[in-house]
Amino acid sequence: MKMARILIVSNRLPVTASKNKDKISFLPSAGGLATGMSSFHQDYDCQWIGWPGLVKDKIGEKSIQEIITKLEKLNNYPVFLSQSQIQAYYNGFCNKTIWPLFHSFTQYAVYQNSLWEEYNRVNKIFCQTILNTARPDDIIWVHDYQLMLLPKMLRQKRPDLTIGFFLHIPFPPQEIYRLLPWRDEILEGILGADLIGFHTYDYVRNFLDSVLRLFGYESSMGYINYQNRILKVDTFPMGIDYERFSSSILNPDTKKEIEKIRDQIGEKKIILSIDRMDYTKGIIKRLEAFEFFLQKNPEYLEKVILIMVVVPSRIRVKQYQQLKQQVDELVGEINGKYATIGWSPIRYLFQSIPFYELTALYYVADIALLTPLKDGMNLVAKEFIATKNNNKGVLILSEMAGAANELGEALIVNPNNREQISWSIKYALNMSDKIQKKRNQIMQKRLKNYHVKKWADDFKESLLQVKSRQAEFSAKDLSPKKRLEMIEDYQKSKNRLFLLDYDGTLISNTYKFKKIKPSKKILNLIQQLIQDKKNQVVIVSGREKDTLEKWFADINIGLVAGHGTWLRERIGQWKTVKPLSNKWKTQIKPLLELYVNRTPGSFIQEKEYSLAWHYIKTDPSFGQMRALELKSSLLFLTSNLNLEILHGEKVIEIKPMGISKGLSADYWISQKDWDFILAIGDDWSDEDTFQNLPDSAYSIKVGTRSSLSKYNIKSSIEVKTLLKELISK
Ligand code: UDP
Ligand code: G6P
Repeated sequence: MKMARILIVSNRLPVTASKNKDKISFLPSAGGLATGMSSFHQDYDCQWIGWPGLVKDKIGEKSIQEIITKLEKLNNYPVFLSQSQIQAYYNGFCNKTIWPLFHSFTQYAVYQNSLWEEYNRVNKIFCQTILNTARPDDIIWVHDYQLMLLPKMLRQKRPDLTIGFFLHIPFPPQEIYRLLPWRDEILEGILGADLIGFHTYDYVRNFLDSVLRLFGYESSMGYINYQNRILKVDTFPMGIDYERFSSSILNPDTKKEIEKIRDQIGEKKIILSIDRMDYTKGIIKRLEAFEFFLQKNPEYLEKVILIMVVVPSRIRVKQYQQLKQQVDELVGEINGKYATIGWSPIRYLFQSIPFYELTALYYVADIALLTPLKDGMNLVAKEFIATKNNNKGVLILSEMAGAANELGEALIVNPNNREQISWSIKYALNMSDKIQKKRNQIMQKRLKNYHVKKWADDFKESLLQVKSRQAEFSAKDLSPKKRLEMIEDYQKSKNRLFLLDYDGTLISNTYKFKKIKPSKKILNLIQQLIQDKKNQVVIVSGREKDTLEKWFADINIGLVAGHGTWLRERIGQWKTVKPLSNKWKTQIKPLLELYVNRTPGSFIQEKEYSLAWHYIKTDPSFGQMRALELKSSLLFLTSNLNLEILHGEKVIEIKPMGISKGLSADYWISQKDWDFILAIGDDWSDEDTFQNLPDSAYSIKVGTRSSLSKYNIKSSIEVKTLLKELISK
């Protein structure tokens, strides 16, 4: 079978073009996204769509054509942007709004409508480019914070597309995310994807928390039922091209460079740091900590050297310019203060360096000192460990880097704690070779295992799994053809049983937990159903019997109350399905009361034979956490009480064992030789009904959740349409 082609879409292409006089040349782009994805891109059937790094109004048509032709050979497709677009979209919304906010630098974030509008426009340009290029079975993989509106834009134009989205930077905690004036639009934009990936579980949790609090969508095992579509959110910690780094020492250029560095530095211990010039990387704090180390440990003067490579980045943004100035000054200050004739403590390179130089530095360094204040992943840390094929060298890594989750054998530090950093440098300088090797080997094994191609394959596989899960659901959709078959069966039959859930099925879910009585229209519909003497209608609900009796006092239908506790066969005549006791309540109620006191907004509902603790009105995350706690306490308390604990939609209900909608369904099914049974429900408790139906019955789940039902329909409105169709034939 032919593998699907992948369209990688990111703001920046893996190569950046530059124009000198009339000559166009290309250099590899800096940054984790470009370096990481490049090795994957080369080995797969991929097309990469992105900005080539030059503004279109400055280069002329001839150069544009030349860039297109050259990039085509690399399977790259350029999206050209103008000077003003780059200013408002890239320097503006991307790097003055989203980048600082998502890295929790709220004080740097600017909120300006004109920037937001340009962000929209550029995302639209990307969307149009993809629509012009994409083949029907392509996989579209959108990357990073510059293109967060794109998944939704694509979905609107082509609902069937396979779309993955990966965020390479942190997703902030919801209390920070919600500061963004366009928080809803951005969230909706991302949710247009089928699979949404993050580097760490923390970012996944933050994202799901925002989805829950801003939009009210819950997730289960990372799956969200969003606007009748299933999508998944998961963790994929990006790897590196392990072999490329571990074998880099075999490259003659790298070898020569290592000799050159050694000649220059001599026997001094090398501390290395490499990052883009970015305030998130903690460069100032690092320099302060290094100075603190020199001050506290004068015996190391002239014995260590900090090689600090800082790659120019986003130079048109004010904070980046200011940072450059601060770094220049601080480096000058420290060097001025501590240098001797033959030694300066810091060697500072403000430039991009080629691969052989980068790997030579990784190889010779005794310590890598990487202390970002916040970093989505930090691939440099992984590259340093992978290059160490002699296994000597110590990684000191900030706990605020995503990579710290996978590199636990490094010396993990708080980037703001200069004492701890200083102490770690000293500890690293004195660490025995044996321990260094042992630690590095463990990390190397992990990095070798989950290299960047594995990471990308993993993402792609998960994306296809989401697609097949969606397909399973749409196969269960009650199509027009299946509807016709059902209507034919209905017409042929003589004894028909309808088992209909109430909330979320006959009335919309929005009204759940409010005492919403059935509307005239609903009552009319039920009346019409039972006018045909062949039809027995039973409403199977979790609500209390008195409420149902009041609502359906004048209609002679069957009722089931309290999720199967009570049955009404005729108006006013109720009975329990089996003998029930209430004694257990005195033991359980105090625990529920404790949880009401500890969880603002929660309340107890006492039904005749059950107790329910509702948390619909609590803070969503807090309520969910308390619910899980309560459930585990209840499981312990009820172990010998013959009780059942049900965790439903925002409710925990305790009731006698064996009582369920399924049991009541059994009761009604056994009453007659039905030749047409139709059960419809939307909730967890309706699954018991579906489970107990004979094979020939029709069962329909309202919504897209996974279910034992034969079919799915989208909403309670469709339930009513279906019932109307049946009686009108
Ligand atoms: N890098 C580069 N040019 C350089 C120095 C480093 O392209 O002169 C690469 C480095 O090898 C790494 C990436 O830039 O792959 C930086 O990725 P990281 O995840 O550490 O940080 P980011 O820049 O993405 O924030
Ligand atoms: C980070 C971002 C990337 C970005 C890179 C370099 O890695 O996650 O999306 O490409 O930095 O930044 P730049 O602004 O030069 O593209």
